[in-house]
Amino acid sequence: MKQNLTALALPLLAASLLAVAKPALASEDIVKKARCVACHAVDQKRVGPPYKEVAAKYKGDAKAPAMLFEKVRHGGSGNWGTVPMLPHPADKISDDDLKAAISWILALQ
Ligand code: HEC
Repeated sequence: MKQNLTALALPLLAASLLAVAKPALASEDIVKKARCVACHAVDQKRVGPPYKEVAAKYKGDAKAPAMLFEKVRHGGSGNWGTVPMLPHPADKISDDDLKAAISWILALQ
């Protein structure tokens, strides 16, 4: 019986992973459109830190999404080095898109 359950659960798990893959792709489009990719890559350091390292640094930090929202919106430096990130006002990236981009970044592993 236990085995049967696992056999059932695996395809379900695969299906739910596929289901979350869709919004993740959309958020990747957002960071391309907002030109975040000029300074960031998922797993390579460019001008800014790799998004995977950002995700690792703030793993389990409930305050991270709000803090990072403000940071990207207004720019700043000091958490990764002395190079500042430029501000990204609402005409460059909307509140909703910025929230989606940050959840996408924080979910990377
Ligand atoms: C001009 C280059 C540049 C662009 C464009 C840029 N970033 Fe950054 N980003 C940086 C740098 C440099 C840092 C490191 C800042 C620091 O040391 O605190 C950074 C840090 C970050 C961090 C981590 C912040 C922290 O305090 O740990 C996030 C999240 C982030 N960027 C997201 C974005 C998103 C989303 C966009 C697009 C809307 C974007 N960045 C566009 C250069 C850039």
